[in-house]
Amino acid sequence: MAELTAAQIQEMLDSFYPYKKRFVTHRDIPAQPLSRAEVLAQIATMSTEEDALGDTGKVSGSLYLGDHEQYAFLTEVFEKFAHANVLQRDMYPSSTKFEGEIVAMTAAMLGGDAQTVGVITSGGSESLMNPMLVYRERGLATRGITAPEIIIPDSAHVAIDKACHYFGITLLRAPLREDFLVDVDWVRDHITPNTVALVGSAGSYPYGLVDPIEELGALALEHDIGLHVDGCLGGFLLPWIARLGVKVPAFDFRVPGVTSMSADTHKFGYALKGTSVLLYRDATLRRYQYFTFPDWPGGLYISPGMSGSRSGGLIAAAWAAMLTTGEQGYLDAAAAIHATAQKIKAAVQAQPELRVYGEDPTFLVAFGAARPEADGGLDIFLVNDLLTSRGWRMNPDQLPAGLHFCVTRPNTREGLAEEFATDLADGVAYALAHRGEPARSGALYGMAGTPAGNDVVNFLLSGALDAMYAVPQD
Ligand SMILES: Cc1ncc(COP(=O)(O)O)c(C=O)c1O
Repeated sequence: MAELTAAQIQEMLDSFYPYKKRFVTHRDIPAQPLSRAEVLAQIATMSTEEDALGDTGKVSGSLYLGDHEQYAFLTEVFEKFAHANVLQRDMYPSSTKFEGEIVAMTAAMLGGDAQTVGVITSGGSESLMNPMLVYRERGLATRGITAPEIIIPDSAHVAIDKACHYFGITLLRAPLREDFLVDVDWVRDHITPNTVALVGSAGSYPYGLVDPIEELGALALEHDIGLHVDGCLGGFLLPWIARLGVKVPAFDFRVPGVTSMSADTHKFGYALKGTSVLLYRDATLRRYQYFTFPDWPGGLYISPGMSGSRSGGLIAAAWAAMLTTGEQGYLDAAAAIHATAQKIKAAVQAQPELRVYGEDPTFLVAFGAARPEADGGLDIFLVNDLLTSRGWRMNPDQLPAGLHFCVTRPNTREGLAEEFATDLADGVAYALAHRGEPARSGALYGMAGTPAGNDVVNFLLSGALDAMYAVPQD
């Protein structure tokens, strides 16, 4: 098991607060207001420096648009309603128009029909948590289920674990098959009278792959339970990749049995951070999500989901992003992303020491060592160490150990995939030359997967969060 040294921990802590010695650390509200110019100057310094890495195009995922002119336009739209509270619909009916139209456009893109309804949420996690609550509530209301269970692929996003943790739902993680897709037979065998819903991803966060949604849909119909398709990542990209003629497994409302879907405007929808679309096959399902309260001293309360006040600016910007990108913009981006992903996949396949995870990744390429380390294979995190030193920011996978590159628009820059191929080859050579040495980027990996190891990792991760919220002493 990898051990974290005291120096590595200190380095991690220091990295949380790089501005400690550069700007004044505020522990109290300043007695006299600072000037706008002064504050803006600090903000500009930080944002320029922090954008530099993303602007190289060498970052996996995270930044989906990367076009500063479009960011400026979206920010201009945001500014018009930044202060508006969507909860106060009577004051801001524009939000009602924007939300309704975002939902309608997204439903049309994802094979919805006149019955399809939806809501806008703050992001992917909320778009996954709400439907879990919905299926719990529906199970209780229609079947009297008091100990609800939900079955998800092991690769599904952890926001669902979070939802089940919050909402008292028992979660079953179905193992993956050799091809990194959910084992549908396992799912079938584990459905019980308490199962309220199944989940599949399109595509999954660690592998970018589309689970066998048609098979899951058939199971959902057979048992009359929900099927949520997590399209947070792929929902705004896969439809356009499919339109290019690339084979994409069926995953949306056209598949019988799919009852809800999430698709993030703030990812491949190319909007600002802070919005996502959650769709339901019909209005009956969405009702389970609403929260209304008739006899509160503060008045009649109504909210569609978990959030209370929400900024109208983000919703306006998401609407503006969809209108100004248009079908053509989404198609062009999908073509460039798909082409880049294929080059990255080819670069991985050119390395006999590596293997691509899954059959046909279309936009996200996950890979790991072709052989276990015990059989002379390399440590993939050593490959990552070299890539990091060349400015790449990959996403780590674990169980099995791996890296993934989620290709976004900034990564489609001319020559970048070729640069990656060269650096990856060097990374493999580096990993082979340093076999047996601890990888810097893998320090926290390799511990999880056993109850004792998970305890250690949970302890360290909670400590990291504490450290992030602790304003350092000068
Ligand atoms: C497949 C998938 N689902 C859900 C999420 C969660 O989205 P968010 O980070 O917006 O809450 C992500 C984030 O990357 C994702 O890739």
